[in-house]
Amino acid sequence: MTRLTIVAFDGTRHELDAANGSTVMENAVRNSVPGIEAECGGACACATCHVYVDDAWSEKVGPPAAMEEDMLDFAFDVRPTSRLSCQIKVSDALDGLVVHVPERQG
Ligand code: FES
Repeated sequence: MTRLTIVAFDGTRHELDAANGSTVMENAVRNSVPGIEAECGGACACATCHVYVDDAWSEKVGPPAAMEEDMLDFAFDVRPTSRLSCQIKVSDALDGLVVHVPERQG
């Protein structure tokens, strides 16, 4: 189990225990974190699971892959720390990860 914090746009911190191998998006949806729509169900085809990785974590999480980067073009208010949460896999290395939900999707 890996500790994961998803900060909703209103500042509410959702602190979750996430199974390794699951994605940040799956954990957000399962725990009804507002602002993660995930319309495509995790296929990297909708960009409605956009999050900002916390500055302290962005190096560890790393940059998006090429396909994800293309899809991020469709996201709202993209920043250097933007990722699609369905493409971030939970692992021990990310224990304590913090991500932030943007103001809106798309
Ligand atoms: Fe559609 Fe992540 S859920 S791109």
